[in-house]
Amino acid sequence: MENNRFDVSGRVVIITGAGQGIGRDYALAFAEAGAIPVLAEINGEKLRNVAAEIEAKGGQALAVETDVGSPDSVAAMVAATLDAYGKIDVLINNAAVFATIPQRKFYEIPYEEWNKVLHVNITGSYLCASAVTPAMRAAGQGRIINISSGTVPQGVPGFMHYVTSKAAIVGMTRVMARELGDDNINVNAVMPGYTETEVAHASMDPDMHAFIQQKRILKRPETPDDLIGTILFLASPASSFITGQSIACCGGEVML
Ligand SMILES: NC(=O)c1ccc[n+]([C@@H]2O[C@H](COP(=O)([O-])OP(=O)(O)OC[C@H]3O[C@@H](n4cnc5c(N)ncnc54)[C@H](O)[C@@H]3O)[C@@H](O)[C@H]2O)c1
Repeated sequence: MENNRFDVSGRVVIITGAGQGIGRDYALAFAEAGAIPVLAEINGEKLRNVAAEIEAKGGQALAVETDVGSPDSVAAMVAATLDAYGKIDVLINNAAVFATIPQRKFYEIPYEEWNKVLHVNITGSYLCASAVTPAMRAAGQGRIINISSGTVPQGVPGFMHYVTSKAAIVGMTRVMARELGDDNINVNAVMPGYTETEVAHASMDPDMHAFIQQKRILKRPETPDDLIGTILFLASPASSFITGQSIACCGGEVML
């Protein structure tokens, strides 16, 4: 066991969707902890802003404009990471179509929107995990952290494509964990509760905020800061015997 069980310094951590919201906070937290975040984000301007923010604080980051739904784009991002650092320690499959989704019944979801949510959220996670696996296997170690959602155990209505995509993440995590265990690659999922970020969410209003908080054991808003400890833990030596799990981080809103 390494001296500091929670040390992630020097680790190369790919964070998809790091241009805003929770992904941005993960990136800032890893940089602050001495890790090297690789920002894999589709929005070039937001990507550059987060990289500049990290550098202004004395951290190091690699910004690679990436569409996680495109195999070529994902391959180029992984190649750029390996060119720059020669290794990939951690992948956080965080990118998703989420904040922009309007609330509606499943039978009113347009076919194109259904496909887009499933493609980015499921296929994007599969593509990124597949692309980092050869380097992790060659290194004989790695961590994949897939972001699911507390909407899955609750079957939250109004976003069936999103909830379906996040349920797929749980199944994907279990299979990946079994298939990569012999390579010493741990694969886990995190299920956040509704988390307030700097981004306005298409489907949230004050009543919804209050309703969600009342369902929690810890009745307060959740912020990205509430998730960072769990994510850093899953990226650190301290969690080396945890794999295949989905960890709810939501103030006790759900119990798995
Ligand atoms: N905020 C919450 O309440 C909450 C709750 C549970 C789970 N989550 C999950 O946490 C993660 C982050 O949530 P958030 O609130 O920051 O979401 P968000 O919608 O604010 O941010 C998502 C980010 O992913 C990027 N992205 C979208 N499509 C992409 C693509 N094809 N390639 C690369 N990047 C792409 C977006 O540009 C954006 O920067 C998501 O997986 C979300 O489903 C969020």
